[in-house]
Amino acid sequence: MTNNPATNRLKDNVVLVAGAASGIGAAIAQRCIAEGASVVCADYDAGAATALADRLGASAIGCRCDVTDALSASSAVDIAKERFGRLDGLVHNAAAPSTNATVVDLDESAWRRELDVSLTGAFLMSKFAVPLIAAGGGGSVVFIGSQFGRVATTRAVAYCAAKAGLIHLAKAMAVDHAPDKIRVNSLSPGAVATTRLLRRFPDFDAANAGLGPAHLLGRIAEPDEIAAAATFLLSSDASFVTGSDMLVDGGYATR
Ligand SMILES: NC(=O)c1ccc[n+]([C@@H]2O[C@H](COP(=O)([O-])OP(=O)(O)OC[C@H]3O[C@@H](n4cnc5c(N)ncnc54)[C@H](O)[C@@H]3O)[C@@H](O)[C@H]2O)c1
Repeated sequence: MTNNPATNRLKDNVVLVAGAASGIGAAIAQRCIAEGASVVCADYDAGAATALADRLGASAIGCRCDVTDALSASSAVDIAKERFGRLDGLVHNAAAPSTNATVVDLDESAWRRELDVSLTGAFLMSKFAVPLIAAGGGGSVVFIGSQFGRVATTRAVAYCAAKAGLIHLAKAMAVDHAPDKIRVNSLSPGAVATTRLLRRFPDFDAANAGLGPAHLLGRIAEPDEIAAAATFLLSSDASFVTGSDMLVDGGYATR
């Protein structure tokens, strides 16, 4: 981790991270544990989710979860209840591999897949998590979006549309669930050094050289820099933050 959380901001909290097995999701799970939470590491990749939970220790449990499937989404929430007795936070981080296409050359199935994982996944995870969070007296929901939900880029129509949808889904849910004491926010990162970038660049140095200059800070982020912001939104330090989209993009969308 780039910073050392010593605040125990999530002591006694239970957090479900959907799409936890790698990259930003794994960094969020690790940060939540470091901040005192118990964590359900849910991912399509069951082996990687379980391996992560094993590394994180007894306060973590891994499970297979396909966020596009209602039964699978509800099972992950059930695991939080059965293992830890409650749920205080949901992070929807899952995303399908990005497509590289305009509307003209994008397959309908690829469009549906990208919207399904990012947006329908957020809907399904929330549908089952929100009642359990409300039953415990409230909490926090965080959707991991992208700067491309705020500004557009080339050949990423499904990604841009899905991430813009996530930002507004968070706002609509914030309105509905404020009476349940549930805060709902999105978090929109700029480019982050995860394997997602290695589909386009041979290594992180090349990714940094290629993408860094588009960010005001002149570099891409480390996963833990996104996890630090997610943990803030989950914690009571963000007790007056709801319906917001937090840009953690090194200034990408500023100019
Ligand atoms: N890396 C970046 O540059 C960057 C920039 C902005 C936003 N983001 C967003 O951050 C999030 C995490 O990205 P990452 O870079 O860590 O990517 P990643 O590909 O490493 O992580 C995505 C995770 O989601 C899981 N997943 C995919 N489909 C799933 C499904 N149907 N059900 C459950 N889990 C599923 C994958 O197995 C994987 O563990 C994504 O939402 C991504 O759009 C990433």
